[in-house]
Amino acid sequence: MKPVRWNGAMRSWTARGIAAGATLALGSGLLIAANPASAAAGCEVDYNVANQWPSGFTANVTITNLGDPIDGWTLEWDYANGQQITNGWSGSFSQSGSSVTVDNAGYNGQIAAGSSVSFGFNGSHSGTNDAPSTFTLNGVECTGEPTDDPTDDPTDEPTDDPTDDPTDEPTDDPTDEPTDDPTDEPTDEPTDDPTTDPGERVDNPFVGTDLYVNPVWSDNAAAEPGGDAVADVSTAVWLDRISAIEGNDSPTTGSMGLRDHLDEAVAQSDGDPMTIQVVIYNLPGRDCSALASHGTLGQEEIGKYKTDYIDVIADIMDDPEYSDLRIATIIEPDSLPNLVTNVGSRETATENCDIMLENGNYVEGVGYALSELGEIPNVYNYVDAGHHGWLGWDNNLGPSVEMFYEAANAAGATPDDVHGFIVNTANYSATVEPHFDVNDTVNGQQVRQSNWVDWNQFVGEQPFAQALRDEAVSVGFNSDIGMLIDTSRNGWGGPERPEGPSSSTDLNTFVDESRIDRRIHTGNWCNQSGAGMGERPTAEPAAGIDAYVWVKPPGESDGSSEEIDNDEGKGFDRMCDPTYGGNVRNGNSDTGALPDAPVSGHWFSAQFQELLANAYPPIN
Ligand code: BGC
Repeated sequence: MKPVRWNGAMRSWTARGIAAGATLALGSGLLIAANPASAAAGCEVDYNVANQWPSGFTANVTITNLGDPIDGWTLEWDYANGQQITNGWSGSFSQSGSSVTVDNAGYNGQIAAGSSVSFGFNGSHSGTNDAPSTFTLNGVECTGEPTDDPTDDPTDEPTDDPTDDPTDEPTDDPTDEPTDDPTDEPTDEPTDDPTTDPGERVDNPFVGTDLYVNPVWSDNAAAEPGGDAVADVSTAVWLDRISAIEGNDSPTTGSMGLRDHLDEAVAQSDGDPMTIQVVIYNLPGRDCSALASHGTLGQEEIGKYKTDYIDVIADIMDDPEYSDLRIATIIEPDSLPNLVTNVGSRETATENCDIMLENGNYVEGVGYALSELGEIPNVYNYVDAGHHGWLGWDNNLGPSVEMFYEAANAAGATPDDVHGFIVNTANYSATVEPHFDVNDTVNGQQVRQSNWVDWNQFVGEQPFAQALRDEAVSVGFNSDIGMLIDTSRNGWGGPERPEGPSSSTDLNTFVDESRIDRRIHTGNWCNQSGAGMGERPTAEPAAGIDAYVWVKPPGESDGSSEEIDNDEGKGFDRMCDPTYGGNVRNGNSDTGALPDAPVSGHWFSAQFQELLANAYPPIN
C-alpha cells in the first residue's frame, strides 16, 4: 500500500499514534472512527466546521457510540490554536485554557449502541482553526475501529485499562495497520454509497417532470385581473383537515378531494412523468405558537390523526392507479421548529407548544406520517424546516435538526423515509439577498450585527437551506437528501425593490436600503404588504436544492385581520392585524399585514393582486 499523504491536522493525529483503523471524511468535516479501547467504550467523532469567518466559526460534532449503551457522556478535546468556545447547544460546555469539556444536555445523555448524538457551538479563533486531533469519551480515547468488536476475541481485550499504558493497545501502532489510510478505503464512508437506498425513488422527483396544476387554484387565479399569466403555475394541494381528503366544498379549495386531484394529475400527464405536491397539515394541536391556523384536532387526538387522516391518505396514494405519479409530500409546516424555539424557558415560549413538546404528539405524528407515506415507493417526503428568519441562529438550527432526526426515528419511521426538507413554506423570506452577503462588513462592522440581520447566520433561504442540508446529513440523514424552497411569495419586486447595494456607510442604513426583503421584521409572517410572487417552480436551481416550488398558493390568506367566526378551527392571530404593534416573536414591531384579510386558506383577492404586481422575476 502506498504511503499516506496526510494534511496538517491528520499528521498531528497520527503522530499521537492513534490512527489505527481511522477513517477521515474528506471535505469540511473530520470523521474519526476509532477502535474501542474496550467493547464498552468505542466511539466515532465527526467534528465539522460548518461555517467560518475571520474571527469566528460554527462547528457541529457528532458522537457515535460503537460500544455498549451509554447513559451520560462527557467528550473532551484540546485545541492547538487557541480557539475559545463562546456558546453552544445540545450540550453543556466548559473550557479551561485549551481543554474543552462537553457534557450531555438533559435530553441526550443516552446513546444506544450504534447510535449518535450531536451538539454544536460557536467559537472564536485568530488565524488557524485546525480541528482537534484527539477526542476522549467518558475518559477513554476514541481510538478504535468500529467493526473491531473485542468481544469476538477475548485476547483482543486487555484486562487492564489500556489507557493506562498505550503499549497494551496493539492497534495503537499505526504501522501494524496498513489499512490506516482512509482514502484507500472508500467503503469506510457509507454515505458515499448510492446503492444504500433500497427504494425505487429517483434522486430528484422534480427533474424532467411536468408539474401538476391545481384546477381550483388555477380558476381562482384566472378570475383575477391579469391572473391568467400565472394560472398555469403548479401549486400544492393542502390537506388541511380530515374533510379535505374527500373534498369539503370550501370556496377556495372547491370540492376536489385527494383522489380527484390524483385523478386529475394522471389526466394532465402527457407521457412525461408528473409531479404533484401535497401538504400534510393536520397535526393534533396544530400551529401551537400562533392562532391563525389552528386546526380541528385537539392536542391529544393523535389516534384520530393516524387512523382518520394519515392512514386514509396513505391508502389513496398507494392505489396502483397513481403509481406513475411522483407525489411530493410536504410534512407538517411549522410543527417541529415550534418545539425548539417556542418552548421551555425561551422568551418566545407558548403554553400550547410546551404541551405539544411534553405530550410528544407532534414528533409521533410526523414520525407516523413519514413512516406510512414513506412506504409508498412513489411518495417523496419533505419535512418542513421553517425558514432562515426563524431557525437561522445557531442555537436554533442545531437543535431543530436534532428534533427532525428524533421525529424521523419515531413511530416506525427511519431517516430513509425522509427524501429531504422544505424551507420557507408559506413564508416571505427572499431566496437570496442579491446586494449583500451576511459576511460583508460596512465601515468595519459586520452585516451580521445590523438590526435587520440581528446575528443570524443567513440573509436568504438558499444558503440557509444548503447549510441545513449539511447539518442534517451530519446528524445521520441520508447524504442524498434534497431541499425545496417555497418561492411562491418571496419575489419582492415592484417599485420598492433596490436595484443595487446602498452607498451608505452607516451599517443599518446600508442593510435597509440594500435588502430586497421589505418586511418590517423577519418574524412577520402574515399577509405581508409589499410582497410579490417569486421564482416560478424550477428543478435543480442550485447545489443541494431539488426545486423551487409554490407550496403556498398565492392569493390564499395567512389569517384574518380581525376575528371571524368559522368552523375550521381557525383563530384570530394579531400578527395578521395591521394595527398591532407585535410581540416578542417579531421584536415587538408592526406586523406589516394587509388589512381586510379573510381567515387562513380563504381567497384574498387584494393580496393576490399585490403579489402579482410585485412579482420578481416580473410577470408579463
Ligand atoms: C391554512 C390552510 C390552507 C393553507 C393554504 C394555511 O395557512 O391554515 O387552511 O389550506 O394555508 O392556503
